[in-house]
Amino acid sequence: MDKQTQVELLDELVQLHQSKSPFLDEHWVKVDSDRYTSGKVFDRERERIHRGLPQIAAHVSALAEPGAFVTVEVVGSPLLLTRDEQGDVRAFYNVCRHRGAQLVPEAAGCKHRFSCPYHAWTWNNAGDLIAVPHEKSGFPGLERAEHGLHSVPCEVHAGWIWVNLAEGAETVDVAAHLGEMAADMEAMQAQDHVVFDCVTLDIPANWKLLVEGGLEAYHFRVAHRNTIAPLFLDNLSSYRCFGPHMRSILPRATLPGIREQAASDWSLGEHANVLYTVFATAQFLVQEDHFIWIQSKPLDAGNTRLVLSTMVPVEANTPERQAYWKKNHELTLVTLIEDFDLAEGIQRGFSSGVRQPLNFGRFEGALEAFNRTVDGYLA
Ligand code: FES
Ligand SMILES: [Fe+2]
Repeated sequence: MDKQTQVELLDELVQLHQSKSPFLDEHWVKVDSDRYTSGKVFDRERERIHRGLPQIAAHVSALAEPGAFVTVEVVGSPLLLTRDEQGDVRAFYNVCRHRGAQLVPEAAGCKHRFSCPYHAWTWNNAGDLIAVPHEKSGFPGLERAEHGLHSVPCEVHAGWIWVNLAEGAETVDVAAHLGEMAADMEAMQAQDHVVFDCVTLDIPANWKLLVEGGLEAYHFRVAHRNTIAPLFLDNLSSYRCFGPHMRSILPRATLPGIREQAASDWSLGEHANVLYTVFATAQFLVQEDHFIWIQSKPLDAGNTRLVLSTMVPVEANTPERQAYWKKNHELTLVTLIEDFDLAEGIQRGFSSGVRQPLNFGRFEGALEAFNRTVDGYLA
C-alpha cells in the first residue's frame, strides 16, 4: 500500500479517536436470521458464490517443484493439484476415470504418476492417461486421450493457486475478480511466505458468521478481554469495499502516539492490523511482520470448516524465531477460537426456534456491507 494511503487511513482513525467517535455508517440495520440457517439460501450461495467465483485452493509453496502434488477440498469437490514436468500448475478432480475411486489418498508429496488404488489405471501429473491394466482385452478401442483426468481451470496469482469450479468455466480470471484489491494482494507478497503452522477446525456455525466475526472492533473489549483487547483501541475500526472485497483497518493501542511523529514517518503496519476479506471465503489478517490466512470452507448452512494458517516470511522462518512464531500462532488461535465459540453460540440460538432479527450498529457497517454483497450475488 502506498505511503499516502497509509497516512490517510491512519489520519482518519487518529481523528476519530481524538473526537471520541467510532467509524460510523449512516444507519443501523436489522437482518433476518434466516440467511444463516436456511438450506435454500445456502444452496444458492454455493452455486453462485462459492462455486461461481474464483477460489483459493492452496498457497503456491504447496507445489514448490515439478512432481509436487497436494490434494485439497474446495467447495465440497476433492481436487488434486500438481506441478507438472514443465513447471505448470494444474488442477484436476481427484476422481478416477475408470469407476470413480479417489485417485490420490495422500495429502501431499512428490509423484510423477498417479496410479489408482482400485485397478491401477495410471495418469501422469499433466493428467494424461498412461496405463490401463488388461486394456486390450477389457477396453478394446479405448481412447486414452478422452480419458485424461477431468481438469479444473487454475491460475497462480499473487502467491496463491486459484481455481474456478463454475459450471463450464475454462479460465480463472483472478485479476478481474480481485479488481482494485489486486494491488493490496500483490503487496502482501504471499509468494515470499511459507506456512509456519496450520490448523483445521470444524465449527458448527454458518460461514458468514465466521467472516463477520473479524469485521468489527465493537466486541474486542468484551469478547477478547483476556487475550488481545489491551492491544487495540475500543470499538475503533474502519473499512472500505473494493467491489465485493473489503479492507478493514484495526488500529492498535499505539495509534494515538503517532501524533508525536511526522506523518512522513507513519507506517500502517506499525499501528494497525489490516484484515482483507477476499470475497467470499478467504480472509488475510496482516500484522506487522507476518499474516494469518483464514480459509473458510462452507459445509452446509450450519457448519463450516476453517483452515487457519500462520504465514511467515521465508527469510524470517529461522530456527531462532520458531518460538516467536509459535507464540504468535497460538495467540491468534486462542483469540479466533473466542470468536468461533461465540458464532457457534449464535447458531445454536438460531436453532432454538426464537425468531428475532440481528442488529448491526452504525459501527458494524462492514457486516451490513458484506451481507449486501452476498445478497447481490443471490438476487
Ligand atoms: S476405479 Fe480407478 S482403476 Fe478402477
Ligand atoms: Fe474477534
